[in-house]
Amino acid sequence: MRDLNQHTITQEVIDRFADTPDPRLKQLMTALVTHLHDFAREVHLTEAEWQQAIAFLTATGQLCSDKRQEFILLSDVLGLSMLTVAMNQDKPAGCTEATVFGPFHHENAPRLDDDADVANGAIGPAMQVRGTVHGLDGEVVADAVVDVWQADAEGFYDLQRPELDEAQGRAVLRSDADGAFRFRTIVPAAYPIPVDGPVGRLLQATKRHPWRPAHLHFRIQAPGYATLTTHVFRDDGPWLDSDAVFGVRQSLVKAWTPLADGTLELAYDFVLAPLAVASATDDASADDAFVAVSEID
Ligand code: BEZ
Ligand code: FE
Repeated sequence: MRDLNQHTITQEVIDRFADTPDPRLKQLMTALVTHLHDFAREVHLTEAEWQQAIAFLTATGQLCSDKRQEFILLSDVLGLSMLTVAMNQDKPAGCTEATVFGPFHHENAPRLDDDADVANGAIGPAMQVRGTVHGLDGEVVADAVVDVWQADAEGFYDLQRPELDEAQGRAVLRSDADGAFRFRTIVPAAYPIPVDGPVGRLLQATKRHPWRPAHLHFRIQAPGYATLTTHVFRDDGPWLDSDAVFGVRQSLVKAWTPLADGTLELAYDFVLAPLAVASATDDASADDAFVAVSEID
């Protein structure tokens, strides 16, 4: 156990976790140490680089608050958030696919009636959204809890406008007896993820752009179904092929079509995965769904 060198230290560290009572924690720590050490050896990490990495992570943590989650943003631009979604929310064929949750959801959005104005003063051209919620066998899912949230035409969420004292571009709706819901809103623009922190500096240093293609966020919850967290992307906008957080799935890209008066309309049919056939690792989000639905009731 003395005189450890760059080759022998890894096994010694792994051995220190040998008595971890929780087998999953033991597996996670063993793999983490293995890959972290292999990474350091592969790139021959210098002490200056180690210090820079510590400073970067420190700045990332220091920027976190109840309004800003820079660590999640870091996970997003590294593709880790989307990788985790892809592995854990691999839904049966025919179900609407999931994508990243993002940092701009708020649990206490106003509960609005059918056909309500969700924009509530947010700037942008008018738009209408019609949705339906079904199960995998085509059954109607009535009374589903439909959270929607979106950026405005300048690419900002209400949470990014500290001067606002009420929600704009977000609401909680319910599907009706036919599984349908609709709302009026404004057209969300493509927007850059926040770049005024360490994640922004990382993107700049690596010549990566920060843009996300225009989208609306949805989270749909109903008892007996796996919670669906997803977006619907605008099909004719920029950045669909280089989303900064890797969240685009072709099945979520839809035409937003002009009505007779020029207003854009989006119609999208959401298909929920029943809990019984949702992937086994979905169980945690399924539990969350019941909690959240009963809280809303
Ligand atoms: C969003 O879509 O709101 C989002 C997702 C990941 C990072 C930043 C924003
Ligand atoms: Fe977004």
